[in-house]
Amino acid sequence: MADKEIVETSEAEIAVHWQEEDYIYPSTKFIAQANMTDEGIYERFSLDNFPECFKEYADLLEWFKYWEKTLDTSDAPCWKWFVGGRINACYNCVDRHLEKNKNKTAIHFVPEPENEPIQHITYQELYVKVNELAGLLRDFAGLKKGDTVTLHLPMVAELPITMLACARLGIIHSEVFGGFSGKACSDRIVDSGSKVLITMDAYYRNGKLLNHKKNADEAVEEAKKEGQKVDKVLIWQRYPGKSSSQTPMVDGRDYFINDLIKEYHANIVEPVSMPAEDPLFLMYTSGTTGKPKGCQHSTGGYLAYVTGTSKYIQDIHPEDVYWCMADIGWITGHSYIVYGPLALAASTVIYEGVPTYPDPGRPWRIAEELDVNIFHTAPTAIRALRKYGPDEPEKYNYHFKHMTTVGEPIEPEVWKWYYNVVGKGEAVIVDTWWQTENGGFLCSTVPALKPMRPGSAGPGVPGIHPIIFDEDGKQIKRGEGKAGNICIQNPWPGAFQTIWRDRDRYVEQYYEKYCTNKDSKDWRDWPYLAGDAAVEADDGYYRILGRIDDVINVSGHRLGTKEIESVALLVDEVAEAAVIPVADDIKGKVPDLYVALKPGKKASPELADKISNAVCDSIGKIAKPKNVWIVSDMPKTRSGKIMRRVLAALSNKKDVGDVTTLANPHIVDEIKEMVQK
Ligand code: WTA
Repeated sequence: MADKEIVETSEAEIAVHWQEEDYIYPSTKFIAQANMTDEGIYERFSLDNFPECFKEYADLLEWFKYWEKTLDTSDAPCWKWFVGGRINACYNCVDRHLEKNKNKTAIHFVPEPENEPIQHITYQELYVKVNELAGLLRDFAGLKKGDTVTLHLPMVAELPITMLACARLGIIHSEVFGGFSGKACSDRIVDSGSKVLITMDAYYRNGKLLNHKKNADEAVEEAKKEGQKVDKVLIWQRYPGKSSSQTPMVDGRDYFINDLIKEYHANIVEPVSMPAEDPLFLMYTSGTTGKPKGCQHSTGGYLAYVTGTSKYIQDIHPEDVYWCMADIGWITGHSYIVYGPLALAASTVIYEGVPTYPDPGRPWRIAEELDVNIFHTAPTAIRALRKYGPDEPEKYNYHFKHMTTVGEPIEPEVWKWYYNVVGKGEAVIVDTWWQTENGGFLCSTVPALKPMRPGSAGPGVPGIHPIIFDEDGKQIKRGEGKAGNICIQNPWPGAFQTIWRDRDRYVEQYYEKYCTNKDSKDWRDWPYLAGDAAVEADDGYYRILGRIDDVINVSGHRLGTKEIESVALLVDEVAEAAVIPVADDIKGKVPDLYVALKPGKKASPELADKISNAVCDSIGKIAKPKNVWIVSDMPKTRSGKIMRRVLAALSNKKDVGDVTTLANPHIVDEIKEMVQK
């Protein structure tokens, strides 16, 4: 019963059912220059050639020592890749490019205010900055290999610089999305066990210089209550030499990096030779229970996988100017703004602000000025740009050869605008399906080899072998026209290694469902459960329908319904809370929050605001409920369980189905009146 209820209120359940669209073929011009035009890649990466096939990706990197075992399954399902190998991620993204590319731009930093100049940081400059910071982290902050450090940085060049400095020393970085609140940052500090927090005093968002330092104070304060003491807060200045935050510095705890770093002028730090399977970073994401989980990513396997997919799926060449408009605070930014493009010596663009600021022509002006030729973003941004500036792209003289969509299902209509208007009919599109846990792409076309189909992600990328199971573990075959739970049959090098300090949860959530023998050391017995519903068409293209669990994908970002509900329950007046996903024109899905009050408490618009603000303060604006519905009672089963299915139907203006078996069927009409008026 419990499972049934979860499935029925999921995103997949309320997903739109699109028609299968016709194929669109890549241009000969694209194919002529593409990195991967050999059909043989699918054969080379077939299950018969697994796992050795992934040597092809690992060979794109420079290893200090070659590995002895490609895949070690002895601790299944915690996979270890390239065991015995030694490598450094920073060395591969920076040092090794100096010989040929030191004068080439590594990072174009585009500040949000349009009157501030774009900064172009060459590989040599990046090398210098990373080394100086690494010296500071080691000698001043006392950080060393295996330590964790929390970063709460916005979209500025200092973020990849900090990540790379950590990677150079083997420090495990854990970047928290800049838009998250101090409280959300604190939860991640506590879970990761960080003693150092690295942040920035302020940054621009939608025309305002936001005080970000205050979040650090809050985070440190909260973490202390939970028993995690942060000794040092290292603060980058948005304007070097000047403090941009009113929040005072705490003596003996807070330090401006821009002051300290002067001591480390031209300092060189040898990159630490890391075992391939040591962790590179943690990335927290929402799961089915309240607590966010730290996905632990490896050094060698992860870097090999993001480099391979950046080269063959993103088609990145060293001479490309590549712009991924995601936030580095999410996995997309780690893999496809920082590690993948830099490993390939490309120029990667980092834009500080909002795509529609100061107007929806902004992205296209940036593309024109920097001559960006590869563009990568999410359906949410595409929908917003289409809504507010449908005719903007043609006003600007830029040309993309390749575009990516990621993070949520894209409606064929929106896809076509992206293709015809943003891409001017010239660019290929890859619709890449994957997750924080996966390190890199799972499904996508290889752009020069397979045609595009609007609304479908495509087949598994080389080396990824998806399979769809029904609830009982029976395979749903290609072309059956039925949706089921999409799984991956085999491990791959980009896959996370475990949930930080919670192996049991890792096994239970991702591997237990379809594992037939829990003692098995054979990877074939451990299909990976992604948590999405999908359909496989006749041609092996997968269409992803959305989450099957208690996770809502808002603008391509995952939020746990339980996380939001537990915040609402902290508001004094609230007795019960239920969150369900509701379809939204721009953001894909947004949370709708239903609350019932304690006896004697009165509903009011002020109370609704208070509850909504509590959610924003605790998690961040991204979690803001579309509505806070204060209801006199929740629809409940006779055993007292809240029927989220009914609430989901009401919010999405769908048929509520049979409610006669509820304990309080009359409440449905009352809520309907309120929600649908
Ligand atoms: C969804 C983002 C449809 C999916 C990289 C997945 C997608 C969740 C697509 C992971 C896509 C991601 N089409 N849905 N191309 N890409 N998703 O961890 O539900 O932030 O499980 O990783 O986003 O979100 P996450």
